[in-house]
Amino acid sequence: MEFNTDLSEKALSLHRLVSQRADQHDAHLTGLSALASTNQKPLFGMMTSLSSTIQKFYPRITSIDLVTRSPNNPLEIFSTRQSSLDNLTIQQINKAALAATGPLRIIPKDGYYLLVKRSPNTDAARYGLSLTIDANALLQNDLDFGANSAISLLTPKGASILRIGDASSDGFFPQELKFRQVLGSQSQPLVLEIRKIVTPAGLFPWASSLTFTLFLGFVLFAVNTYWKQLRHAKLAEKRALLRENEARIAQASRINSLGEMASGIAHELTQPLTAILSQSQAGERIAKLKPEETEKIVSVLNAISQQATRAGNILERLRKWSTKSTKGLEQVDLNKVAQDINDLMMADLKEKGIRLKLSLSSTAPIILADAVQIEQVVFNLARNGVEAMERIQNGCLEIDTRMNDGWTVITISDNGTGIPADIRPNLYDPFFTTKTNGMGLGLSLCEGIVERFGGILKVENGKDCGVVSKVSFKLDQSNG
Ligand SMILES: Nc1ncnc2c1ncn2[C@@H]1O[C@H](COP(=O)(O)OP(=O)(O)O)[C@@H](O)[C@H]1O
Ligand SMILES: [Mg+2]
Repeated sequence: MEFNTDLSEKALSLHRLVSQRADQHDAHLTGLSALASTNQKPLFGMMTSLSSTIQKFYPRITSIDLVTRSPNNPLEIFSTRQSSLDNLTIQQINKAALAATGPLRIIPKDGYYLLVKRSPNTDAARYGLSLTIDANALLQNDLDFGANSAISLLTPKGASILRIGDASSDGFFPQELKFRQVLGSQSQPLVLEIRKIVTPAGLFPWASSLTFTLFLGFVLFAVNTYWKQLRHAKLAEKRALLRENEARIAQASRINSLGEMASGIAHELTQPLTAILSQSQAGERIAKLKPEETEKIVSVLNAISQQATRAGNILERLRKWSTKSTKGLEQVDLNKVAQDINDLMMADLKEKGIRLKLSLSSTAPIILADAVQIEQVVFNLARNGVEAMERIQNGCLEIDTRMNDGWTVITISDNGTGIPADIRPNLYDPFFTTKTNGMGLGLSLCEGIVERFGGILKVENGKDCGVVSKVSFKLDQSNG
């Protein structure tokens, strides 16, 4: 459990205090090291007076020692201790000084630690300079953490240097609150840990056994009720979201059919109507200027009626699209679908300078579906291809049908811009479009239709460029 606000504020201020204290040790060591190694020999007199000033103001520094840095036989050459340094400590200071590469070294002891600096602070160091820090004095504070709390100082690896106080409790329902943070001192990354055990009885002194049991019962009941309500609300929320999604998709497909049809009509009729208009104007001019050229007039009228028939066909097709097919499944020849789309788009593609290539399977690729809807799918995929090639030279749209490995497949490929990786995840989302006039419904509609007839739609980037849209139906179900 985390500390509550009051306790964490106290813990943080102790942490700040101890970190600041630790930082002061660096400055002392730097000053002392200068006196130890600027000369041939340490300036003992000055070291003694500086040491006594330091220790007077910082009593937590219980001793200052200087040891020769030597692979073989280190010696104490300066110490503020009453008695001389024990051999083990001399060895430890020497070892730390030998291993030091710049940063200070910490030697943890029970209740205190040694802070060692090599002196001078270069590879040619001659001494190990050590401060002995009393952990108790380092942690000393007048913040009140209350009963059942312990303050500990640990090494960076977690070994204990000192613990003040006792945070154990055999009370009813004990909870441990814990604060643990590395000191903000770069040279001494020791860990300050403050633990406190609280019991409900400690928090509420009135909580003697019966009152407390009743209270606890009430709290548990309240928590349980609250939790149940929360779960209930979450479930309801989820259900609402599902319903909303369903509605959105239904709405999408309605708008889809409508939108696709409207833009389809406009798109498809523009071309033949423009042709009819220009042919009529030409015919009128010929009839006025050279009424004798009946042959020319007849050919113009012919062209006009051809275009008008085409416009009529388009309208018929769109009418079929807009009336929802209520027929059951029928045999749909994908070759015929490809051919129809080819006829439908040819004139438009010619005008745009896009080549259209058909490669049809020699055996009739028959699937069981609704012909009009499958045409709609192929038309949508082809139109996406065409739109991707609008600003490209040598655009080529290819429609390919084949029967392959138990699959009946119709593939629509283009050599347009391709699909950038970042939009891939959204490709089939209703209303996702990168086009200024796009509806973003084509692919979601196609996917829905193809899946309805048990097929698979894959829209992927081509090997070199462009996009390959593949609609596949498993043979056994596709030929009934
Ligand atoms: N053949 C393709 N080449 C490049 N991008 C494509 C192709 N097909 C689909 N896309 C991308 O997928 C998006 C969604 O397509 P679609 O659902 O048909 O909606 P719309 O065509 O209205 O944008 C397009 O806006 C386009 O970015
Ligand atoms: Mg589209």
